[in-house]
Amino acid sequence: MKQNRILLIIGGGIAAYKCLDLVRRLREQGVSVRAVMTRAAAEFVTPLSVGALTNDRVFTDLFDLNDEREIGHIYLSREADLVIVAPATADLLAKMAGGHADDLASTILMATDKPVLVAPAMNPRMWLHPATQRNVKQLKNDGIHFVGPNVGEMAERDEAGPGRLAEVPEIIAAAEPHLANSPIARSVTPLHAKRPLTGRHVLVTSGPTHEPIDPVRYIANRSSGKQGHAIAQAAFALGARVTLVTGPVTLPDPEGIKTVHVETAQQMLEAVRRGLPADITVFAAAVADWRSATTSRQKIKKTGDRPVIDLVENPDILATVANLEAERPQHVIGFAAETHDVIAYAKKKLLAKGADWIVANDVSSTTRVLGGDNNAVHVVTPESVESWPQMSKDEVAERLMLRAAEHLRRTTAAAE
Ligand SMILES: Cc1cc2nc3c(=O)[nH]c(=O)nc-3n(C[C@H](O)[C@H](O)[C@H](O)COP(=O)(O)O)c2cc1C
Repeated sequence: MKQNRILLIIGGGIAAYKCLDLVRRLREQGVSVRAVMTRAAAEFVTPLSVGALTNDRVFTDLFDLNDEREIGHIYLSREADLVIVAPATADLLAKMAGGHADDLASTILMATDKPVLVAPAMNPRMWLHPATQRNVKQLKNDGIHFVGPNVGEMAERDEAGPGRLAEVPEIIAAAEPHLANSPIARSVTPLHAKRPLTGRHVLVTSGPTHEPIDPVRYIANRSSGKQGHAIAQAAFALGARVTLVTGPVTLPDPEGIKTVHVETAQQMLEAVRRGLPADITVFAAAVADWRSATTSRQKIKKTGDRPVIDLVENPDILATVANLEAERPQHVIGFAAETHDVIAYAKKKLLAKGADWIVANDVSSTTRVLGGDNNAVHVVTPESVESWPQMSKDEVAERLMLRAAEHLRRTTAAAE
């Protein structure tokens, strides 16, 4: 069967790096990907990296004589089955809507007779700007297909809203209908199409806890909640009813998910117990091990003496839930954040806490896991240790929830 070909136009946005993963995933499915980068895109990712993944040269210049003689923008635009623009910048959307053709990317988009799928990514204010909204409306009228943008956190600090690039599986799912003889259509079932957690309740904890010392000070940790929130979203996408119990984070509440906000470990345990029963619980929150034995009602003042904070242990939420008699969830997954001997500690934790799986990650300062977008985890079960390569926290979430859904299906079938 003829191989499907995608022409990927990469725009100059901060999300351009995600197109590397998109290329990798498409090629894994046997799709050939040819890439065109705008001049701005090359400021964010190098044509070298893109070319290494497409296994082809990368096209950047309209006036490259060789390209014009041997391939040319008309040929490039017509050779593909589908043109994907990811990330589509505000600027590219404006050019497309206005019919501009002043560089290779925009000329191809004018010249193509193939379906075009755009995945916009930009700051929420740029996305919501009347000019962008006007352009999007025009492009939709012109028959251009859109995927995303998603609502979420931006690369810029303290920015959230619509403008995040759609996730790679979502872009692939949106590309599918345009690839009739696609190996994707046959081999990849998009995350949102198969919903193996339908009818299940998944409870996820996320973020740090804040343990007060006095009205202004608290003990905390560097957890951002990105991994836990991503797990809640993946479970929801797989059809589950989801309860997310989160410590203080700057992430927006995920849509469609019941989100309970707490501050301390004790409050988190109470909220988890109120959230039960659940089929799967995932304890991804970085719960403080200790809290201050006393909390001053007033701000502790400098007196010249060295203040002493007496610490007491917090309740162990994972162990408590894993050892419940009547309400123990069918599948209890804990997270272990370690800075050394990661797998050994995870194995010990699995036994000591009575969990079914421990997802262990190395959070030493060199790995940039805490607060970062990527994670490399080891999934420790009583039977095995699986070490997954580094991937985005969204991908970890998706894989973990798919695995958990499969495990639940098997254990339910065995019990019947
Ligand atoms: C650090 C940085 C990040 C940017 N991120 C985005 C973005 O995410 N989305 C966007 O539409 N423009 C973004 N821009 C602006 C575009 O790079 C700029 O409009 C450029 O002209 C787009 O060119 P292109 O559409 O040809 O790729 C960013 C600029 C900078 C300097």
